[in-house]
Amino acid sequence: MQKNILVTGGAGYIGSHVTVRLHEEGFQPILLDNFSNANKSVLEGLKKITGKVFPCYEGDVLDEALLGKIFSTHQIQGVIHFAAKKAVGESVEKPLSYYKNNVSGLITLLEAMMSHGVAQLVFSSSCTVYGQPDELPVTEGSPKKPANSPYGNTKQIGEEIIEDTVKSGQRLQSIALRYFNPIGAHPSAAIGELPLGTPNNLVPFITQTAAGLRKELTVFGNDYHTPDGTCIRDYIHVMDLADAHVQCLKHLETLAENHHFDVINVGTGNGSTVLEAIQSFEKVTGKKLPYTLGLRRPGDVEKVYAAAEKAKEVLHWQAHLTLDDAMRDAWHWQQKISGSDKSPM
Ligand code: WQD
Repeated sequence: MQKNILVTGGAGYIGSHVTVRLHEEGFQPILLDNFSNANKSVLEGLKKITGKVFPCYEGDVLDEALLGKIFSTHQIQGVIHFAAKKAVGESVEKPLSYYKNNVSGLITLLEAMMSHGVAQLVFSSSCTVYGQPDELPVTEGSPKKPANSPYGNTKQIGEEIIEDTVKSGQRLQSIALRYFNPIGAHPSAAIGELPLGTPNNLVPFITQTAAGLRKELTVFGNDYHTPDGTCIRDYIHVMDLADAHVQCLKHLETLAENHHFDVINVGTGNGSTVLEAIQSFEKVTGKKLPYTLGLRRPGDVEKVYAAAEKAKEVLHWQAHLTLDDAMRDAWHWQQKISGSDKSPM
């Protein structure tokens, strides 16, 4: 009997890749998405990869009635919660919409889960909770730093809400996965990252520049204390990240106790500078990337990359795909969605 898993934000970048892996591992994904930061074309992409049309509800995690309908219609065995706003800069401009969507949305989801006896939750968290770590690689025991954006704060608050709910005696088994920097796309190029408007993140900006959609990339700062002066991040292929979610769900199913909360880093354990990321892209695509060295971006941490041992020990998971693999897949995806080269925006 296939286990029904509710994937909130299931039409999003990470949610859609997790949906593929859930299907491949014999689960039945049930999607919920308000399509505020996702395109309906993703559903076609999922069908192309899996041959399946998954149940997909268009709506919001804030909608109690809709959640009740989904839980009553499907025997949901577990939830993977992606539905959240995630643009750091936008969160500074519109904090209330981030707290309402990310925090109230989580609370509404948890209430629906508790009232329908659904006890397994994988929560999408972020390495942003660490701020600039004092030591690297950063472990799950590293102190959380005051968030440097409302977005980051919603992730810290989300973890605390779930932990407090578990401590209150509610039957809830939950793991917060702290992602590092997700990049790349499904190797079929049927799904990938679809940033709306000007991308905030590095890799979509690289691929759009290479496709001629942007004039050039600005490297935000080359005066950091790193080998080449540019920031260091732990770039993880979205397919590796997706697999971590499935392994996490399987791990929750093995737990004896009904009350469980834990946090696990999901990264490769390797750090790469911005210039190394650019060099990787140029190597795998054979394209020269036009970029300029600009000023630092406010709020950026200098370097952060994961200690990945706990994921290996607890989830029996580790990343296998490389930065080159991710750049290759990101470029194939960009070529697919942008067709022939277009004039710079
Ligand atoms: C990476 C590096 C930039 C764009 C954020 C969130 C994190 C997660 C991923 C949601 C930095 C540099 C970027 C550009 C550049 N969010 N850069 N030129 O900021 O590490 O992480 O996105 O899931 O929680 O904090 O990712 O891709 O924006 O930046 O030089 O045009 O690339 O300065 O050093 P970041 P990013």
